Amino acid sequence: MDSTAPPASWGALRSFMKDTCGVWLSEDQHYLMEARLAPVAKMLNYSSIDTFVLDACKPGAAKQVTSPLIDAMTTHETSFFRDGPFWRAMQDLVLPKLGVLDPGATKPLRIWSAACSTGQEAYSLAMLLDENYPSLAERTTIIATDVSEGVIELARRGTYSVFEVNRGVSAPRLLKHFEREGGNFRVKDKHRKRVVWQPQNLITGWPPGEGFDIALVRNVLIYFPEETRQLVLKKVRASIRPSGFLGIGSSEFIAGSPISPGWYPAR
Ligand SMILES: C[S@@+](CC[C@H](N)C(=O)[O-])C[C@H]1O[C@@H](n2cnc3c(N)ncnc32)[C@H](O)[C@@H]1O
Repeated sequence: MDSTAPPASWGALRSFMKDTCGVWLSEDQHYLMEARLAPVAKMLNYSSIDTFVLDACKPGAAKQVTSPLIDAMTTHETSFFRDGPFWRAMQDLVLPKLGVLDPGATKPLRIWSAACSTGQEAYSLAMLLDENYPSLAERTTIIATDVSEGVIELARRGTYSVFEVNRGVSAPRLLKHFEREGGNFRVKDKHRKRVVWQPQNLITGWPPGEGFDIALVRNVLIYFPEETRQLVLKKVRASIRPSGFLGIGSSEFIAGSPISPGWYPAR
């Protein structure tokens, strides 16, 4: 493939990603197509990336071809306890304002981790609550969703490589929250049972519930064009109860005043 000229199917792929996932690929990003789709096309026995893409992007294409394409073309960069100050602010500002830490509080806590990737965000939440507020952890439900069914499957399994746990998990946390599984580490059952995983598309699907105390939509809005960002934010905000909070990436900005980098009141 000529690295300077986009391949014939590049336009079809750009339109498909924008229409199905809201993900905007700029015109010069076609190098991503070869890097990410060559192994998938080969695995599915296509003779070339072009034939795979044209087949997967045609109207009514089967899920067996669209799902691997979406899995490969979405960016799943994540890590455990990503952005320490964000989690600190949740403990210092957000949870107290929700009233769930009040003495004798019995209120359940409902959190939505939207665009959860391979699960590190949702598990970090479960681990933080378990470390600091064990009785609140017991009454917390975390719903974690992503458009990529492949990452949801990995997240549900909760098994991570040495490289993945090294990105954010300290040695004491590794001992406390994981068990060894061959050369990998598996998140302990008590955290895995706290998270409900489900595929969900932020642009075409409905939120997986309503009345959330917290919704996290971190590091995904950056992939959407402005109009789509606004639509997604409106939908996500409506799924949070009026006194709840929205968390986005600390370096992202949306309308309204944050109470701390990345944290906004729901309304
Ligand atoms: C960079 S990861 C962010 C993961 C995590 N929230 C974090 O901050 O570490 C972005 C995730 O957004 C997901 N995504 C992209 N478009 C989406 C859509 N339309 N609906 C739901 N998830 C989407 C991708 O599959 C990917 O896993």
